[in-house]
Formats: sequence, structure tokens, C-alpha cells
Amino acid sequence: MLTNFDLEKMVDTTDEWIRTRTGIRERRIADADTSSSDLGVESARRALEEAGMAASDIQLIIVATVTPDTIFPCTASLLQHRLGAPRAAAFDLVVGCTGFVYGLAVAREMIATGVYDHALVVAAETLSKITNWEDRSTCVLFGDASGAAVVGPVEEGRGVLAYALGNDGTNAHALMIPAGGSRLPTSEETVAARQHYLTMNGQEVFKFAVRAMAESSEEAVTNAGLTMQDIDVVVPHQANYRIIEASAKRFDLPYERFITNLDRYGNTSSASIPLALDEAVKEGRIKPGDNVLLSSFGAGLAWGSMVLRW
Ligand code: ACO
Repeated sequence: MLTNFDLEKMVDTTDEWIRTRTGIRERRIADADTSSSDLGVESARRALEEAGMAASDIQLIIVATVTPDTIFPCTASLLQHRLGAPRAAAFDLVVGCTGFVYGLAVAREMIATGVYDHALVVAAETLSKITNWEDRSTCVLFGDASGAAVVGPVEEGRGVLAYALGNDGTNAHALMIPAGGSRLPTSEETVAARQHYLTMNGQEVFKFAVRAMAESSEEAVTNAGLTMQDIDVVVPHQANYRIIEASAKRFDLPYERFITNLDRYGNTSSASIPLALDEAVKEGRIKPGDNVLLSSFGAGLAWGSMVLRW
């Protein structure tokens, strides 16, 4: 665990600044030898156990991550082997913090068309590995985590009711890792310039986030044949409590309907929604029959909202 007070000793920041600007108090950081697939395997195993299923029942594995173990092969391939899901199709989705919602949408459609019976959607992130620990404007924000869901057929009127996904590439530069890809391959110069770390224009992402979450949530809720007032619980991407408060205002919903745990975990990218969803279910805040809205935004800049009937 890394607290704001620990960060005070690393960069020019204060607990007060971090708390009042973001709501974050502490975050979990993986060990030097723990990768995203190590976290992902653990949550995948727990999800399978809770679903009462074996890995061999899974025909499709989707891993949402911006921190894959290696650029290739995909991290889903490592999970397929480690979980023991023989011959399951496996691929990664790189849609920043929206990856889990995108993964659920893809899995849902591949099951709905009858191609597969059961899929595993895993969001596994070790943001600490791509964080520039000398940059106070980003290093205070992120944490490491993973979450997973087993997706399978459910009775009519349950599960995924609707979703709205989208992207605006004109702002792709606002949140990125500049080097290490084919545009700017890793070199001594890129490493010296610390271009292998995440960079972000926080204010640009902030403005985008509030608008994108509101618009995509409204679209998903309308597509589900509901109104915002029918939503019992909102599980938003856990980036900043001010973004969540602004969304509550725009949705005209009480803040109490929003699940938040970013104070303890920070922004864990695509893992933030499954992490918050799982905690909310275990705490009894989400009950069978509830209309649950997932709402996310992230690198792309992308957005993804989804309505589930629990
Ligand atoms: N401690 C102290 N001061 C800081 C820190 C820090 N850790 N970081 C920045 N500051 C300073 C800045 O230098 C600036 O100082 P200046 O006015 O002298 O220039 C001042 O604080 C204000 O900085 P802003 O960037 O304007 O602060 P803002 O209120 O916008 O908050 C924040 C910054 C928290 C990053 C906010 O913009 C935000 O949350 N944006 C959205 C980010 C986000 O959600 N990212 C995730 C997207 S998806 C993904 O994770 C992959």
C-alpha cells in the first residue's frame, strides 16, 4: 500500500492536495516481480469459483489492459495457459479505462450470436509499471488491481440490457505512452527522456470525462428503455471524486447511488469498474433486480457505458 503521506516523501505534493483534488488517500502497488497477468489470473480464478465453473468451461478470454506483460503475445494468451482453458480464443483489448465495459460488450455479442457459451472478461492493470514516479501530476493518481467476470447466457430481461461505446481520436494525445511503439521505438534517447511512461493532460481529460460519461450514460439508459431515475446504482470509473460528483449532478441522481472506492485504490484504469462492482455486490449495495449503470472514459479518448439488470 502507498499512502499520500508516502508520496509526500517522493515528490513535491501533499496529502491535502491529493485528497481535495482527487479524493484518493492510498493505492495498492504490485511488487517488482508481479505483472498484470499475475493479478489477472488471481481474479479470474476467483470469478470462476464464484460462478461455480471450471476454466475448461470457458471458450473465450478477453483481457482489458494498458499494461500487458509484454507488447505481444497478448496477456489473454498467458491467462489461457495458466488457467487451463484449452483452446479458448484469447485476445486483449486496449481501450484504456473503458476496457472492461468494452470487453463485456464484445463477450455479450459473441455469446448472443451463439458462437460461444461462456467467456471470461478480465481487467488486469499494473499502472505502477508505466508511472513516472518523478511526475507529481500523474504519479499520485494511479494504483494496481484486477477484476474479472464470467459472462454467459441469462434469462430474457437480465444481464446486459444496453450499452453505448464511442471514441474521439482527436484527443488521442491527451493520455498516452509516447515511446515503445512503432511510431517512436524505444531507444536510449526515449528512455532518457522518460517517454516510456504515461503522460496526461489532466484538465483536458477531466473536461472530456464529465461530458463523455453523461452523454454515453444517457444513450445507454435510453437504449435500455429506461430513464435515469430508474437507475438504482451507478458504478463509475474511479478516477476522481470531482468527476463523479459532476456526473451525479448532470444525471440528477443522489451521490449515494454512486459506488466509490477510489479513496483506497486510486485510479486502476480498466480494473476500477469490476473492483467497485464486486465490492458493491459483496456489501449488499447491489441486489438482484437492480438496474446498474457502468460508466467509463479513458485513453482514446474513449467512452463506454452499459446498463445491467442484476
Ligand atoms: N501535488 C501538488 N500540486 C500539484 C500536483 C500534486 N500531486 N499535481 C499538480 N499540481 C499543481 C500543478 O502544477 C498546478 O500548479 P500551478 O497552478 O502552479 O501550475 C496546480 O497543482 C493545479 O494543477 P491542475 O492540473 O490544474 O489541477 P486539477 O485541479 O486539474 O487536478 C487532476 C489535476 C487531478 C489530474 C485532474 O485534472 C484530473 O483528475 N483529471 C482527470 C484525470 C483522469 O481522470 N485521468 C484518468 C483517465 S483514464 C486512465 O487513467 C488511463
